[in-house]
Amino acid sequence: MEPELTLRIATPADAAEMLRVIRAAFSARRPVDPPAAALSDGEADIALALREGAGIVVESDGVMQACVLLEIADGVVTLRRVSVVPTVAGRGVARSMIASALSVAADLGASRAKLVARTEFPELISWWQEHGFNVLEPAPNGVWMGRDLPVVVDVPTADDMRDLGRRLAGVLRAGDVLVATGDLGAGKTTLTQGIGEGLDVEGPVISPTFVISRVHPARGNGPGLVHVDAYRLGDASELADIDLDASLADAVTLVEWGGGLAEWLAADRLEIDIVRGLDSDERTVYLTGVGERWAGVLDTLRRPA
Ligand SMILES: Nc1ncnc2c1ncn2[C@@H]1O[C@H](COP(=O)(O)OP(=O)(O)OP(=O)(O)O)[C@@H](O)[C@H]1O
Ligand SMILES: [Mg+2]
Repeated sequence: MEPELTLRIATPADAAEMLRVIRAAFSARRPVDPPAAALSDGEADIALALREGAGIVVESDGVMQACVLLEIADGVVTLRRVSVVPTVAGRGVARSMIASALSVAADLGASRAKLVARTEFPELISWWQEHGFNVLEPAPNGVWMGRDLPVVVDVPTADDMRDLGRRLAGVLRAGDVLVATGDLGAGKTTLTQGIGEGLDVEGPVISPTFVISRVHPARGNGPGLVHVDAYRLGDASELADIDLDASLADAVTLVEWGGGLAEWLAADRLEIDIVRGLDSDERTVYLTGVGERWAGVLDTLRRPA
């Protein structure tokens, strides 16, 4: 079994180890000109950044494997030095670390996040887009990317996930489009079951593995539920083959999605991102309303402070 990964808030005493991780991560990238500023950081720079802002570190067996610095000013968090050592790549470390950086930033009073991505790394720009960031404007040697911070809900068990779905149903109405992202088994269908109960729709909500979409008519006067599983579709053009538009207006539509391209679906949408704990059943759900429909709607779901 791979060693357990743990996440925690950094302290200035972590500066030397963070510098090691930053150098390992940035020197593993293709060389760029001018070189990444990260490669000329010293321990004192990191310690100062931690005193003035914050940081998150990921460790396994007490050895640091990933880190990020957070600079917070005027309600905006800037993510800097996003670093994962190459040996733990592919374990969802960056995804969990950034998710928790965004929730720490929200706890510290920020409402938006931004960062600079180098133009030489289009794959990194795509990764950030899959995690809700949009390209904003040019930056020296790169682009500024940004997103609103989500409402964060801790979900310890599957029952709590269904309960969140029932509470969410309370703010939904016909025409709403929800896009649920998260790895295999994250809990997208479990959340949808709670939404189905809350909306009081017919039929068991189950994983639509062999059918791509399933319609659950309302039992009462509320909206029905259209449950779409796009996870296994190759790309957005295959999704176009499903006749979503026909049902969109009088039902709530929830699309289970593997990540990315959500903006293709609907201009106004609720993005639901489910992130697994690195080594537990716990899930963290990030809710981001995009478009005017969602302004203020999610406030009742915010985690009690
Ligand atoms: N905190 C939790 N929240 C949600 N599900 C949990 C939790 N802890 C354990 N589980 C279990 O994890 C599984 C989640 O499966 P589910 O089908 O909902 O995921 P999914 O994201 O829809 O997967 P797929 O990508 O296959 O569609 C269920 O068996 C559920 O009981
Ligand atoms: Mg599912």
